[in-house]
Amino acid sequence: MKRSIGIDLGTTNSCVATIDESGKPSIIANKLGESTTPSTVSLRSAPGSDGETPLVGAPAMRRATTNPSETLYGVKRLIGRRFDDLSVQALAATLPYQVVSAPNGDAWVEVLGAQLSPPEISSMVLRELHDIAEAHFADSVDEAIITVPAHFDNAERRATVDAAEIAGLKVRRLLNEPTAAALGYGAHRGKDQRLAVCDLGGGTFDVSIVNVEGGIVEVISSQGDLFLGGDDVDRAIMQELLEELRTDQGLDLGENPEALQRLKAEVVQAKHTLSEARSATLELLHLGELTSGKFLDYRRTIERAELNDWVAPVLRRLDAPCKEAAARCGLSPQDVDAIVLVGGMTRMPAIQSRIASIFGRPALKVVNPDEIVSIGAATQCAILDGLIEDVVLLDVTSQALGLLSEDGSYQQVIPCNATIPTREHRIIATSKDDQRELFFEVYEGGAATPAANRQLGRFVCRDLPSAPAGEVMLLVEFTVDVDGILHVATSELGSGEQRELRLMATAGLTRSEVKRMR
Ligand SMILES: Nc1ncnc2c1ncn2[C@@H]1O[C@H](COP(=O)(O)OP(=O)(O)OP(=O)(O)O)[C@@H](O)[C@H]1O
Ligand SMILES: [Mg+2]
Repeated sequence: MKRSIGIDLGTTNSCVATIDESGKPSIIANKLGESTTPSTVSLRSAPGSDGETPLVGAPAMRRATTNPSETLYGVKRLIGRRFDDLSVQALAATLPYQVVSAPNGDAWVEVLGAQLSPPEISSMVLRELHDIAEAHFADSVDEAIITVPAHFDNAERRATVDAAEIAGLKVRRLLNEPTAAALGYGAHRGKDQRLAVCDLGGGTFDVSIVNVEGGIVEVISSQGDLFLGGDDVDRAIMQELLEELRTDQGLDLGENPEALQRLKAEVVQAKHTLSEARSATLELLHLGELTSGKFLDYRRTIERAELNDWVAPVLRRLDAPCKEAAARCGLSPQDVDAIVLVGGMTRMPAIQSRIASIFGRPALKVVNPDEIVSIGAATQCAILDGLIEDVVLLDVTSQALGLLSEDGSYQQVIPCNATIPTREHRIIATSKDDQRELFFEVYEGGAATPAANRQLGRFVCRDLPSAPAGEVMLLVEFTVDVDGILHVATSELGSGEQRELRLMATAGLTRSEVKRMR
């Protein structure tokens, strides 16, 4: 049997797990003996040059202070996204490294004069995890189940598959993070119930309502905020402290990336401490130069209550996705039987109580909220290998998919929250006599007009037979596979002849680019 592993490719931290012969999952620790590896990459020389290989994980994190523009973190927030996307623009303004537009409009990163795609950067993290697993087994590992946020769209999913391919890993399955979390929590072994899985990580917040009934684990709805996570909590704390430094000390750290990185590292540490303790103290020698010419030795104690005040606006943003996730399956938040907390940020007491108040019941504390997703991914390996029987996973589409015909009419083909895999078709026809080419466009998103949705591709079908207007009809078939990825095919109605499709405009990497990056 091929050896496969489960990978949680996180915004902030990644984690790899495996199963033993009986299907029991466990975490594979990295070279430092840690269960999670920071999803951070630091480049010491231009990519593609014969220079040093990139650093990944904790060693890369250490360079964030000294070489902020070469140290790439949180790339998952850019993967599969467009440069002119407003949220990407807002994010780019806060990052110490440079986000640029690729020729096709995708968001890429420029470092040491070279442009890198987010899948390439993620592939460096995946390669590290792959190495960790191979070192553990002292053997090769061929395949992985990789988890993605439930609301990752088509482009984001494809880009994740590209990242794995560049890293030399075959993707056995993409699994939605909340589904993985439900499995990691052991929901498939427990009683029939309805769970709310709330995953607050570094960059994203995901809420899923999961039904467990007779061994069937079904995500019945998913909602999320792709731009809500620990990074926002960190930013809120930073803003308060920077403002305080400006008013109290006349010190503006705005133009000092090194000092900002040092402060941020202390802030994150204090945030972690405050999950256990009532207060935490930041200490930074020589943080910045005061107007007097002296250097400031910074010392500041933060009380937990103070922290909670500062981050209250961030915490309020947890409400909407929870309520919407419940509403999407006709429930109110009080109708769930249990809440499972996932993601490192759920260790923060204020977050636990906010989520508890939304659902009207205390949340189940998971002992390992940052490992549970990869444990679930490994468990899925065991299910696919037949080591765990009588468990069925059902996932749903994250976005609606629609078709724009040449005549300008737009129709939804696959709704949001449809159980996957799923297949639907529509029929389009020529509108002129002797028309030999037919165009159509595919969109993703729930809006009624294509302009408000995201274009996935523009297709053309050539060499149609000569016939009067309306007589040549094409069956356009949309298939969303088990990974949540869309495949489009057309055939001629009547003859049933399969028609070759040409994709005219698209985002993401081409096959040859992926090959070259390997
Ligand atoms: N003890 C703690 N108290 C508070 N926050 C914590 C604690 N431990 C970790 N965190 C925070 O949790 C976040 C990382 O969580 P996690 O590792 O689950 O994210 P991720 O899986 O990388 O991200 P995502 O799921 O968004 O892709 C970081 O913001 C980190 O600072
Ligand atoms: Mg996560």
